Amino acid sequence: MQEARHLQQIQPSYIREILAAATAEGVISLAGGLPASDGFPLSLMAESIAQLPNTPALFQYGETAGYRPLLAYLEEHYQVAPTHRMLVCSGSQQGLDIIARAFLNPGDGVAMEAPCYPGALQVFAMATACIHTVQQQATGPNLGELEALFASGKVKLFYAVPDFHNPTGISWTLETRKQVAALCRQYGVALVEDAPYRELRFAGEALPLVASFCPECSLVLRSFSKVSTPGLRLGVLSAPEDWLAPLIKIKQASDLHSSLPIQALLLDLIAHPQFPTHIQQLCQMYSGRYQALASALSESLGRRCEFEPVKGGMFIWLKLPGFDPLTVAKAALSKGVAIVPANAFYPNDTAPDSAIRLNFSHEAPDTLRTAVRRLASALV
Ligand SMILES: Cc1ncc(COP(=O)(O)O)c(C=O)c1O
Repeated sequence: MQEARHLQQIQPSYIREILAAATAEGVISLAGGLPASDGFPLSLMAESIAQLPNTPALFQYGETAGYRPLLAYLEEHYQVAPTHRMLVCSGSQQGLDIIARAFLNPGDGVAMEAPCYPGALQVFAMATACIHTVQQQATGPNLGELEALFASGKVKLFYAVPDFHNPTGISWTLETRKQVAALCRQYGVALVEDAPYRELRFAGEALPLVASFCPECSLVLRSFSKVSTPGLRLGVLSAPEDWLAPLIKIKQASDLHSSLPIQALLLDLIAHPQFPTHIQQLCQMYSGRYQALASALSESLGRRCEFEPVKGGMFIWLKLPGFDPLTVAKAALSKGVAIVPANAFYPNDTAPDSAIRLNFSHEAPDTLRTAVRRLASALV
């Protein structure tokens, strides 16, 4: 059977082929966006897992919006805007897909920072949206470019990752947050604020969500993948109450609701008295891994590389002036280290910058140092 037209325009990616080779034996992969497996809070979940059979109702069909006690906890915990309602999703990735399917018509304009999260590029490409990119700077999106784009009337929705961006690790300044919110309001553009890395801060002060400055035109996506485990596949979306009905329709058609036993398990975990300590320890672990990777890069590559320091998240965006990122990715793989070339983070795999993304959350410091030695040997 022939695949649907909206899928035919998505080309098989050469980069995905490179990534497939990243799992070969002996290869150290800094390519994935994986949290540390040794940081999973499994011991905090053990008792809840054992107790699940004592509540048979959890194994029945449930409400599409989510497990009520979990929704009540999250509304309180995140101090969700009083005009917003929440919808539990099977990962924030599903939340994004639901938003695109609920609100985008073919050809509708979506703005994103470039480079951008490939999972979002994929969702918007499948929705046959028209993707417009705005250059990212150290403070956030280039506001002049963003305003010109909004003023052109071509954009319905702005997708953004203001905390510890994937792939660059950049966090927007407070001023940028306020200005983007003001622009969304002025031009009637809906903001989709994707915040999966927000809790992974190991330096500096937390800043307010951009959505807190324009709640009436914002949707917020949160993920539990990075603070619990990705395998639970849970995230939560919040949106103005009158935007919820189309989202619920799509969620219902897609999977009726997210797994109830897993939602109950997540509630027990995040309400566990030791959970804040778990997050602190995770941030400490990531801080140590980041320092190890950053120092090894400076020692082994010196002036051949440039990167902005990050204060959290899971990635370093390593600029390698004069190198072609795809060639670097192939050469690195031949030396036993997998990285993602910049091309993966732009529409149509075309990268204007010579950069690669390195993940520091998954591997231990010694392995990260070995990976950098291998990378350095590939850059000759
Ligand atoms: C920016 C961004 N949004 C969403 C996701 C998807 O996360 P989840 O596991 O909650 O679906 C990721 C995953 O890495 C991500 O980097």
